Amino acid sequence: MMNFKLQRKHEEDHEAPHTPKSVGLVIGVTGIVGNSLARILPQSDTPGGPWKVYGVARRPRPHWNSDYPMEYIQCDISDPKDTVSKLSRLTDVTHIFYVTWASRSTEPQNCEANAAMIRNVLRVVITNAPNLCHVCLQTGTRHYFGPYESLGKVEPQEPPCLEDLPRLNAPNFYYALEDVLFEEVGKKEDLNITWSVHRPGSIFGFSPYSLVNIVAMLSVYASICKHEKKPLRFPGSEAAWNCYSDVSDADLIAEQQIWAAVDPNAKNEAFNVNNGDVFKWKQFWTVLAEQFEIEEYGFDEEGGGFSLLEMMKEKEGVWEEIVRENQLEPTKLEEIGWWLLDLFFSGEGLMTSMNKSKEHGFLGFRNSRKSFVSWIDKNKAFKIVP
Ligand SMILES: NC(=O)c1ccc[n+]([C@@H]2O[C@H](COP(=O)([O-])OP(=O)(O)OC[C@H]3O[C@@H](n4cnc5c(N)ncnc54)[C@H](OP(=O)(O)O)[C@@H]3O)[C@@H](O)[C@H]2O)c1
Repeated sequence: MMNFKLQRKHEEDHEAPHTPKSVGLVIGVTGIVGNSLARILPQSDTPGGPWKVYGVARRPRPHWNSDYPMEYIQCDISDPKDTVSKLSRLTDVTHIFYVTWASRSTEPQNCEANAAMIRNVLRVVITNAPNLCHVCLQTGTRHYFGPYESLGKVEPQEPPCLEDLPRLNAPNFYYALEDVLFEEVGKKEDLNITWSVHRPGSIFGFSPYSLVNIVAMLSVYASICKHEKKPLRFPGSEAAWNCYSDVSDADLIAEQQIWAAVDPNAKNEAFNVNNGDVFKWKQFWTVLAEQFEIEEYGFDEEGGGFSLLEMMKEKEGVWEEIVRENQLEPTKLEEIGWWLLDLFFSGEGLMTSMNKSKEHGFLGFRNSRKSFVSWIDKNKAFKIVP
């Protein structure tokens, strides 16, 4: 692995102290990994730095993301005109970090919407930023297991999955994103732009704007149990309770993307990214109960699992009360993707291998228990949960 710090020190000796060496464009900067990239990229010891950062999302910049030194750009990348008008002036971009997505009702619609979004961005930046040298694309482990709508219809790959397994025979917006990346970047060798694809499993991180944030969802559920003085029952299946699982810490994913952006060993490759350890939800349920000081918790062997989506339909009033009493950030239960948590806990964990990433030089890891606790703490600190 390259010694980033040494290399950077050597280069800094010849440069003015704050001249950016790399310019990152983070598409989805308020998302669960976008927020980690926004925090890590501007730090003085980040590989490839000093970094100048542009961050893109549709909504106005939220206060929990406002401390990071970057230029925030409100832009809807699904709108080609908005993308041209807001991004064509960014002529100094050297790296793109694509960490966003759109959720539609069917997978063919997901393919169309997500392919159009990444195409809009790539075409504008490639045309206007002559120093663009690398594009990181984040997809996920559903590359191997299929989108939610094909669960049970398409045979998933056998875990732990390796990056070079063939694609499944079903529509998948991750494949559509990759195909646009290959079309616009990979196959155009004269452009001299490299790419990397990053495939996390469930992400532990922080973002109140994320479409899927498992730590926030579990923290909300635990807060409701605590408030109602009810046991913290595991909602999933017995298989999900007992099996080994892995997860991906958002900061670790950001670190892997930055590594891939600057290390020649990582170019034009896809990489799994998980914390590098395994756990069982029956162990982490104790952690969750401890963090919210709930004494009675576990898997109900007689009653079995249940649907959080159904349960939460009845809890809007309770949650409003919790938000009011604790002066939390206003959030609505109906806007949280409970159905995803139901699906996530319906079967056994689907694990991937980190061997390729390690063999190419990325040795990062996280202790998943510490990661879980630290993101719960962050949700408390930013008043998302009590
Ligand atoms: N979250 C997980 O647990 C997880 C696990 C595995 C894989 N993945 C995959 O990782 C990829 C990235 O997802 P994520 O979960 O990291 O994202 P996310 O947390 O849902 O964040 C999405 C970000 O993109 C912005 N955004 C959404 N639509 C936009 C648009 N049209 N124009 C500009 N900005 C837009 C959002 O802000 P605004 O809404 O304000 O625009 C937000 O900043 C997806 O392919 C996802 O399937 C996620």
